Amino acid sequence: MFEELEDVKKQCLNCTSCALSKTRTNIVFSDGKPNNKLVLVGEAPGYWEDMKGRPFVGRAGQLLDKIFESVGLSRERDVYICNTIKCRPPDNRNPLPDEKIACRKFLDMQLEILKPKIILICGSVALNSLLPEERGITSVRGRWFDGRYGKMMPIFHPSYLLRNDSREKGSPKWLMWQDIKEIKRAYDNLRD
Ligand code: URA
Repeated sequence: MFEELEDVKKQCLNCTSCALSKTRTNIVFSDGKPNNKLVLVGEAPGYWEDMKGRPFVGRAGQLLDKIFESVGLSRERDVYICNTIKCRPPDNRNPLPDEKIACRKFLDMQLEILKPKIILICGSVALNSLLPEERGITSVRGRWFDGRYGKMMPIFHPSYLLRNDSREKGSPKWLMWQDIKEIKRAYDNLRD
């Protein structure tokens, strides 16, 4: 599994399929533990991810780590993290359709190698990519969908949670807390 992912990463590091290859500092391929249980697919690298070449290392990433830690999961040990788009779109704009098409092969190859039993679809760009027929993260977050390898659950993006600070019942942070507990339950029920 590890060597196959390294091969895909090498292809990705040489990629010039779209214009983002001209503006990137680093390719952001993945982080965390390659495994067949739990994979999170985010949107695209931001400033710090582009600088460091690792996904989710800015403020949103720190919150994501805390969310996992709140149920005893860790990036280093339990979760493989990657993005829909491997290079930062300038000024963090949403990726363009041709950029998504150009980059899609890398995500497909990552998922085909890992065959994860649970995929977390983090935010609306990832939702649009993995469940294009579903509209609106707010209406589908927390629901399980059948995927090619196992189950998939859309969840709020942590940067949305950073903009919505309330923890009251029904708030985005409260909903995320319900979702991460459900994800942990499903994770604990997986067989090797
Ligand atoms: N947001 C994402 O979706 N991915 C990252 O890697 C960083 C921020």
